[in-house]
Amino acid sequence: MNEKKIVAQVIAKELNDELTSDKIYELLESPKNIEMGDIAFPTFSLAKKLHKSPQIIATELAEKIDVSSFEKIEATGSYINFFLDKNAVASDVINEIVDKSGSYGNQNIGQGRNVTLDMSSPNIAKPFGIGHLRSTVIADSIAFIYEKLGYIPVRINHLGDWGKQFGMLITAYELWGDEEAVKAHPIDELLKLYVKINAEAETNPQLDEEARAWFLKLENGDKEALALWQWFRDESLIEFQRIYDKMNVSFASMNGEAFYNDKMDEIVDLLEKKGLLIESQGASIVDLQKYNLNPAMIKKSDGATLYITRDLAAALYRKRTYDFAKSIYVVGNEQSGHFKQLKAVLKEMGYAWSDDMVHVAFGLVTKDGKKLSTRKGNVILLEPTIDEAIERSLKQINDKNPKLANKEKVATQVGVGAIKFYDLKTDRMNGYDFNLEKMVSFEGETGPYVQYANARIQSILRKANFKVNLNLQLSFLENGSEHWELITLLKDFPTTVKRAADKYEPSILAKYVINLAQSFNRYYAHVRILDETSERESRLTLIYAVSVILKESLRLLGIESPEEM
Ligand code: ARG
Repeated sequence: MNEKKIVAQVIAKELNDELTSDKIYELLESPKNIEMGDIAFPTFSLAKKLHKSPQIIATELAEKIDVSSFEKIEATGSYINFFLDKNAVASDVINEIVDKSGSYGNQNIGQGRNVTLDMSSPNIAKPFGIGHLRSTVIADSIAFIYEKLGYIPVRINHLGDWGKQFGMLITAYELWGDEEAVKAHPIDELLKLYVKINAEAETNPQLDEEARAWFLKLENGDKEALALWQWFRDESLIEFQRIYDKMNVSFASMNGEAFYNDKMDEIVDLLEKKGLLIESQGASIVDLQKYNLNPAMIKKSDGATLYITRDLAAALYRKRTYDFAKSIYVVGNEQSGHFKQLKAVLKEMGYAWSDDMVHVAFGLVTKDGKKLSTRKGNVILLEPTIDEAIERSLKQINDKNPKLANKEKVATQVGVGAIKFYDLKTDRMNGYDFNLEKMVSFEGETGPYVQYANARIQSILRKANFKVNLNLQLSFLENGSEHWELITLLKDFPTTVKRAADKYEPSILAKYVINLAQSFNRYYAHVRILDETSERESRLTLIYAVSVILKESLRLLGIESPEEM
C-alpha cells in the first residue's frame, strides 16, 4: 500500500474521528529536506478542535502513534515527521515492479471507455508542418498515457482533405501539372503548384474564378474533379504514411474533413430546428455573445460550409460512434478561438458532452530563434529532417559502439526518439527552438541520454548474468542516499503518470524520466554495482527496476528503448 495512506491511517486511529483518514491524507506534505523525514503531517487544523497549540498536539500525537511501520516518528514544531522504513519501502516498490514489469502504475480509471484524440491532421497539398509534428507527437503520448489509465485511445487523423485549396490545385494542375512529377514527389509537387497558383492569382483574378468554379464542381460531385481530388489525396497519403511509419505512429481513423461532406446537412438542420441559426448578410451564423465569443459562421452566403461546420459534424459523429469519455483535440494554440466556438455551439445545441471536449493546445516552434515561414524560406522539411536525425545518431553510434549489431535500426530508434523527446520535454504551451544537434546529443536533457541510461543498465545486467528473482528480500546496507533517491522516484511513477494525464502534459513524464536517468547515473558513479558483496543482488534488482520504468516512461512518450546502443 502507498505509504501516505498508511501514515493517514495510523494518525486517524489516534484521532478518534476528529479527522477522517482521507482528510488527513489530503493534509500530508513532503518535508522540505530529506533530514526531516519523508512525510509530514501539519497539526494546525486540529488546534481549534482540540483547544491546544499545534506544537503540543504534535508532541502528544507523535508519542501515541504506532511506530512499528516506520523507522521513526518525530515531532518538530507543529509538524509530525514520519521517517519511512527505507528497506521495507524499497522492497515493496522494487518487488512490485519486478512482479508487474511494464504494467506497474497501470490504473483502471477509464474502465474501458474511449478517449478520442484528434491529432496530426495535416493538409493535403500543403506542407506537413512542424505544428502537425507537434500534434502527432504530443497526442500519441497522451494516447499511451490514457491507455495506461484504463481508457481506450482512438487516434483520429482529421486530414485537411477538402476546401478551396483543391479548386486552386486542380486549376494549377490543369495549367502546369505533370503526372509523373506528382507521382514521384506528391507533396513537393502539389505544394509547388499550390504556391505558384497563389502567386499568379494575385495579379490574375481570372485564376481565382477558375479555382472557385473547380471547387464548386468538386462539391457537386463532378467526376473529373473528384478523380483528381482522389488522386491528389491518395498520392499525398502515401507520402504522409512514410513519415508516420518512420515515426512509428498509427491511426484508428483517417477520416478527414471530406468524410463529413454528407454529414453537415444534419448539423444545419439541427441548428435551424433549435432556432440557433441567424441570417447575417446572406450567411448563416450562430450568435455566441453570451460566451464572449465572435459569432460562428456555419454557412457562407454562397451556401459553402466551413471548417467549423465540419468540426461540428465530426464532434457529433465521434460521440455517436465512440461514446467518448473525453474528446481531445491536439491542435496549435492559434486555433483556440475556433475550439472555444466549437464547444460553445455544441453547448447551445444542448449537448452536455461538449464539456468533455478538450483543446490541448501547444506553442510555436522557431528555428534559429526566428519564426518559421514558408515564404521567407525558414522551413523545416519533416522527412529530410527525420532522416538527418537518424544519420547523426548513426554517426554517434559509429563513434561509441562501432561493433553494434542492427546499427541502422538503433539509429532510427535514437534519431526519431530524439526529435520526439525534445518536443515532449517542454511544457507544451511553450514553443522551442528546433535544433537537431541538441536533440540528438547523448548529453543533456535528451532522448538519447535517457535511452543510453537504459542501455547501460542492460549491459550491466548482461555482464552479471542477471535473472529476476521474485520476492527477493532486498537490503541496502550502503548508507548513501543514492539508492533512496532512485526508490523515491520509482515510487512516484504512478502518480506522475496520473498527473501527466490530468494536465494533458507529457512533459511531466519527460521531466520525470530525465530525473530518473540522471539519478541512475549518479548511482552508477558512486556505487560499485557489481562488487561481490551481500547486497549485489539487491543492487542489480534495483537497477533492473529502474530500467523497467525508464523503458515504460519512454514507451508512454512514444519512444523506443534499444537494448544496446
Ligand atoms: N488541418 C488543420 C490545420 O492544419 C488542423 C485540424 C485540426 N483538427 C480539427 N478537428 N479541426 O490547421
